[in-house]
Amino acid sequence: MIVKKMTPAFQKAEGGLFSAVEKADVGDAVLKMGERGVALMMWADPFYPHPSIPPHVAQAMTDSINSGFASHYTAPIGNSELKVEIAKKLKKINGIEVEPQKNILITPGSDSGLFFAMLLFIDKGDEVMIIDPSYPNNFQNTEIMGGKVVRIPVYAEDGYQFRIEEFEKRLTPKTKMIVLTNPNNPTTAVYRREKLSSLADFAIKNDLVVVVDQAFEQPCFDGIEMVSIAALPGMWERTVSVFSISKGMGLSGLRVGYIVADAKVIDKMYGTAVTVIGAANTTAQLGAIAALRDDSFMESYFQSFDRRRKIVYELLHDVPGVSMIMSESGFLSWVDVSRLGTGSEITSYLNDEALVAINSGAPYGNEGRGHVRIVHGALNEDQLREAVIRMRKALIKLAEKKGVK
Ligand SMILES: Cc1ncc(COP(=O)(O)O)c(C=O)c1O
Repeated sequence: MIVKKMTPAFQKAEGGLFSAVEKADVGDAVLKMGERGVALMMWADPFYPHPSIPPHVAQAMTDSINSGFASHYTAPIGNSELKVEIAKKLKKINGIEVEPQKNILITPGSDSGLFFAMLLFIDKGDEVMIIDPSYPNNFQNTEIMGGKVVRIPVYAEDGYQFRIEEFEKRLTPKTKMIVLTNPNNPTTAVYRREKLSSLADFAIKNDLVVVVDQAFEQPCFDGIEMVSIAALPGMWERTVSVFSISKGMGLSGLRVGYIVADAKVIDKMYGTAVTVIGAANTTAQLGAIAALRDDSFMESYFQSFDRRRKIVYELLHDVPGVSMIMSESGFLSWVDVSRLGTGSEITSYLNDEALVAINSGAPYGNEGRGHVRIVHGALNEDQLREAVIRMRKALIKLAEKKGVK
């Protein structure tokens, strides 16, 4: 009864307490998997479940607790010292020069940042162009806000780069926004400079807002250039960029993200921050300052992620019925298993047969059907190799059974 009073997007929401298939992070599903000795490779949480907090970050957070500072709010717009450190990082890594106190909002993780960035603009009926497959929040946020999702398919044969014609042919007078996950989750594609330039021209010509989620911007491999679309000519004033310390820094538990945009956008966000997001955690923001001031720990993470993507590729790419590209960024592998079954058939088969928990591709979009996503950044490298060997054996067995060569 009460559910019928909800907006359509919430009525449609799945994976909660009462649905047949629990989301792994709801209820006691994970506990049960852990008890069965299942390797958990479905959360984009580096090194999970092993500790990965650099000592200097832990020290800064402990100091804030010991001094008593931790029990107090930081203003909803965020710690100003943290913004100064972020501004330095934006200049060095993203080629974006900002005024720290006018162009940055600190958010409790970048999921809330992405939601806030879209919320400013999306009204009922507005069309939002989203690459399919991409991060499920892009689709769900749009629907929650009453917008209409316009899916832009991308293809393995293009290395999952987008074709600008796919955007052009779906443009209508109602198109308001492009939401871009760059690098993409789940495909790991890092959009090339010429692609982003063509998208920038399209956005400028048609007066569109671009929200870009760069949670996975570090690391990118094989010398591939990570271009921030906000830094392209004419894009600063129409781009809202969302960042996170969860992925490349491996500090997901701190729940710190940040939004970067023109002062005209940030002004409205500062005016509504307390209503929409509250404030990020005080101690976590102090930890983030320490992490940004000395980020030398990241290099060994990047080397580990590089080895991990190769382990997965080498063990899976030649399995009959499996097709994949080498990951370009981060710590995910995107695998086409459509010749062997649907994504959810394969994930549940592997759960039973190989004791691994990975993601079905379906939540990532229509193009995600027949795919699975493997988080290879979790566990340690030996555990990862063992888990992927189990996957390889199980998939070869399935291919033989199905007569797939
Ligand atoms: C593409 C992408 N963006 C944003 C997030 C949210 O990260 P956080 O809220 O930890 O910053 C995730 C988390 O998995 C993600 O995959």
